[in-house]
Amino acid sequence: MTPFFLLQLLISVSLTLASSHDYHEALSKSILFFEGQRSGKLPPDQRAGWRGDSALSDGSEAGVDLTGGYYDAGDNVKFGFPMAFTTTMLSWSVIEFGELMPTDELRNAAVAIRWATDYLLKTISHPGLVFVQVGNPISDHNCWERPEDMDTARTVYNVSADRPGSEVAGETAAALAAASMVFRDIDPGYSQTLLENAMRAFEFADTYKGAYSDDPQLKAGVCPFYCDFDGYQDELLWGAAWLRRASQNDSFLDYIQNNGKTLGADDNINEFGWDNKHAGLNVLVSKEFMEGQALSLESYKEFADSFMCTLIPESSSSHIQFTPGGLIYRPGGSNMQHVTSISFLLLTYAKYLSKSSQTANCGSIQVDPSSLQLQAKKQVDYLLGDNPMNMSYMVGYGDRYPQRIHHRGSSLPSVSSHPQFIACKDGSDYYKSANPNPNPLVGAVVGGPGEDDVYEDDRADFRKSEPTTYINAPLVGVLAYFVANPNAGLVLT
Ligand SMILES: *[C@@H]1O[C@H](CO)[C@@H](O)[C@H](O)[C@H]1NC(C)=O
Ligand SMILES: *[C@@H]1O[C@H](CO)[C@@H](O)[C@H](O)[C@H]1NC(C)=O
Ligand SMILES: *[C@@H]1O[C@H](CO)[C@@H](O)[C@H](O)[C@H]1NC(C)=O
Repeated sequence: MTPFFLLQLLISVSLTLASSHDYHEALSKSILFFEGQRSGKLPPDQRAGWRGDSALSDGSEAGVDLTGGYYDAGDNVKFGFPMAFTTTMLSWSVIEFGELMPTDELRNAAVAIRWATDYLLKTISHPGLVFVQVGNPISDHNCWERPEDMDTARTVYNVSADRPGSEVAGETAAALAAASMVFRDIDPGYSQTLLENAMRAFEFADTYKGAYSDDPQLKAGVCPFYCDFDGYQDELLWGAAWLRRASQNDSFLDYIQNNGKTLGADDNINEFGWDNKHAGLNVLVSKEFMEGQALSLESYKEFADSFMCTLIPESSSSHIQFTPGGLIYRPGGSNMQHVTSISFLLLTYAKYLSKSSQTANCGSIQVDPSSLQLQAKKQVDYLLGDNPMNMSYMVGYGDRYPQRIHHRGSSLPSVSSHPQFIACKDGSDYYKSANPNPNPLVGAVVGGPGEDDVYEDDRADFRKSEPTTYINAPLVGVLAYFVANPNAGLVLT
């Protein structure tokens, strides 16, 4: 017979555990989200059933096939720069944490990656060119239209030797190299194709150096949405770092060592997102240093350490901004992209440190991996509902979640329930409606609350209510980690 006090103890322990989240459900949904963003001809096993085929002539304007890929957010443009970054981060998620995923979710994640890489391969299949975008963003944003109805200009943008775009080509190289690691066992032939194309994309990026937004014509198409604000240099290092990781070829290690200074590796900017790769580059490259293979890479670990220190309350370094409720916060809109990408770096760095029995050097204190995991857990638990609004910021997860996300397809009636065409401006009524979106984009994570932890669930407020593919991509890895380690980082007292 169990003594009464022990029973009490068991109950209180299980209550504590019960308050933690269903990371498995959140992981499944975070991957399902990508099906709602699909462009092109949908396969028979499409699960997001409210979507239909769309943009089946993409590329025809330039006489090429550019169907497929993902719409980047709540609009219907295919922006190559953030799509490539999304692909890199989905792949990195699987590389670090895929073995912790339930088998079916690992398969779904690989399918989500391949939907992007099949498209990215098309963008570089014409020698001397990289197609960097499909869709005129001005005319697209002028309409509130379902992708299935889209009749706006599907302008095709390319970069070439004369009008270089090393950021897009470099990120595409990173994406294909990272994805080649995901498919190494699943589909070795495809993996080899990805790696060879990654090398070609990198060579193009490095041979014709320049930023795509420096060309006036391209600038009109890519800015202000995915302008290259901070230069292409970080994408060259990042592309080389991924090629090194995927191929183990020393020429890419040499590239990082020889060009680190001129390409600004020492700038050590504490950011990580579709435009700025520095913090991610430092984490990625420091792995090799920690494994004792390339001592010349020590500065990358120092920089990665100093980034981690800004995230750990106990460290004496200056900290990045948090909301009163504890969420990582950066001004500029779509804040959850920072939350998910930084959480991913926290867990990945914790993994590298722990595998090599090291700590992060934060001045007077040494920070161990569990502190990094604890911070990541706080962030993901906030995102899933432990926050002042008591709501989850993932559509379809938990009891309360965003109902009016800034997303054309989600907010207009589906093509199956309303097959009649809804023209550009005829969507406005749905945009302005106070009703919940009719098609829940399950798994979508929105930009999230403001710096005061407040979220209004307002469709017009795109900085808070719009989902993007690069919010979800790193979250896939974060959630996979917590599926396997639901209490990681927690110090039991
Ligand atoms: C590439 O872009 C240039 C400049 O806009 C254009 O003149 C050329 O036709 C494009 N090439 C293709 C194949 O689309
Ligand atoms: C390593 O990469 C370089 C540059 O792409 C290439 O020329 C070389 O053949 C590669 N070496 C091996 C062993 O694959
Ligand atoms: C969130 O839940 C807490 C505890 O149940 C409650 O005190 C608080 O008022 C709730 N906040 C909102 C915005 O609903």
